Amino acid sequence: MSAAIPAESPPAVPEPWGNTVQVTFDQGIAWVVLDRPKKRNAMNPTLNDEMVRVLDHLEADDRCRVLVLTGAGEAFSAGMDLKEYFREVDATGSVAVQLKVRRASAEWQWKRLAHWSKPTIAMVNGWCFGGAFTPLVACDLAFADEQARFGLSEVNWGIPPGGVVSRALAATVPQRDALFHIMTGESFDGRRAAEMRLVNEALPGDRLRERTREVALKLASMNQVVLHAAKLGYRLAKEMPWEQAEDYLYAKLDQSQFVDRAGARAKGLTQFLDDKTYRPGLSTFDPGKE
Ligand code: COA
Repeated sequence: MSAAIPAESPPAVPEPWGNTVQVTFDQGIAWVVLDRPKKRNAMNPTLNDEMVRVLDHLEADDRCRVLVLTGAGEAFSAGMDLKEYFREVDATGSVAVQLKVRRASAEWQWKRLAHWSKPTIAMVNGWCFGGAFTPLVACDLAFADEQARFGLSEVNWGIPPGGVVSRALAATVPQRDALFHIMTGESFDGRRAAEMRLVNEALPGDRLRERTREVALKLASMNQVVLHAAKLGYRLAKEMPWEQAEDYLYAKLDQSQFVDRAGARAKGLTQFLDDKTYRPGLSTFDPGKE
């Protein structure tokens, strides 16, 4: 049985999105739209602060069981805002101001997003440059328009990629591709992004939303406790030595059974071993659904 997903019931606390981020709900999917289309959704300090609040809010909002991050207009995001995030912050001459804006940027773009308690999907609808690679990689899955244009343009500004952009690339694409694009600054399209595994799939523009929604709905219908344990287990275990990874992943397994009120594991075992009604290798039925 699929989870009951509240439709459009009003939230218990005021919604924190405003001028730079928009959120709409659709059968368990929260579509989170970076919304500065005139600036190609460049990420300025206001947007970064707003995204921190949005993520905190949606984590506790039952209308959201999966988050899709995308951009308004013709861009996913043109990266960090060169005027407001760099030039204007430099002009303050204040290390404290610089630290503050960097902290908010990192908080949502990877710290919160990568470990978020719900599944996340990046839908790259257009331009994706520089700093935008960070939330792109921090999302669990990514789908792109074949025509979307990606670029690590930093070297063209006379700087190396900052933040954790290079670290994010190292976590996803092979070294030859990463260094080619980091060092030449040459842009590439959605098809190439899929070839180098920066995104899961590249799709024609008119199929992008439909395919993203299809995968999002599947994730929204699944057991959220198990999904969270599975994604966090993968993300953290891949940074650990094997011995620690094994111990951690068993602890995660035990934790998820303890926390999972739907009792997915016990149900699955009963259906397979006793009732003979379920073959996980053959069927799409998911006993883990709440
Ligand atoms: N920071 C600040 N403003 C940006 C921006 C960024 N990263 N990217 C675009 N903008 C602004 C432009 O300055 C312009 O503002 P204006 O209308 O006040 O002049 C507006 O967004 C539209 O940009 P424009 O270049 O005219 O749009 P386009 O569709 O012709 O080109 C891009 C889109 C993304 C190819 C181009 O804007 C670009 O190269 N941006 C920089 C991308 C980048 O190098 N990002 C890395 C930052 S570290």
